[in-house]
Amino acid sequence: MAKPLLAGNWKMHGTATSAAKLASEIAEISGENPEIIVFPSFVSIPGVVSALSGRKNVAVGAQNLSHYSDGAYTGEISGQMLAELGCTYVLVGHSERRTYNAESNELVAEKFSAAQKSGLTPILCVGETFQQRQDKIQLQVIKAQITAVIEKVGLQSVCDAIIAYEPVWAVGTGETATPDQAQQVHSYIRAELGDKGVDTQLLYGGSINADNAADLFTQPDIDGGLVGGASLEAEHFNNIVQQLIERK
Ligand code: PGA
Repeated sequence: MAKPLLAGNWKMHGTATSAAKLASEIAEISGENPEIIVFPSFVSIPGVVSALSGRKNVAVGAQNLSHYSDGAYTGEISGQMLAELGCTYVLVGHSERRTYNAESNELVAEKFSAAQKSGLTPILCVGETFQQRQDKIQLQVIKAQITAVIEKVGLQSVCDAIIAYEPVWAVGTGETATPDQAQQVHSYIRAELGDKGVDTQLLYGGSINADNAADLFTQPDIDGGLVGGASLEAEHFNNIVQQLIERK
């Protein structure tokens, strides 16, 4: 059984000061379980790492990384830079980056590989658009997104990472996938990974909040969540953490 995990993606919200404050509040109210990861903006990472020093219950991740390891790439951040700052996780293929930065499945696979080479655990985000769901091709879309990464790094490396199913139509829209819709995709992903994927953490993301979290977390193949908007306030996020702990 995969271990429960809750991740908070803070996107481009707040400042280094407010991010450090939010990190300490989350660490203060969250107990030892489940595993928690926060994803501040790049510039907020050092302050968040230092606000969390000595607290083992919350890990820090980055929202993106370069697929290059080093070189003349102005404005880019390498996996090694992130690892040195104290990050242990990184998001790859978030739908906002696929959409606004034209990140292809192949580029996401390169980033996934760069992350693992730097010792970071990638969280691979996959998910279909509204139109793709209307066309009933969501499973093909997700398969292509995952296959591109398997072709680059191999099945075992993908199973060693974390996968987040985030339907594009549910991210930041207030519209959540129903527990059945989410479970259907999660069980499909689990089956695609086969025996090696039994313990792979599969997260759901897309407008999770304190009102809908419990029903999502009771699904057999949903091991936790990747939370955006509802992770920006410590009490709200902790409420979701509690629901994951208490899930039936
Ligand atoms: P949301 O974002 O919870 O605000 O929909 C989720 C995400 O982008 O990971």
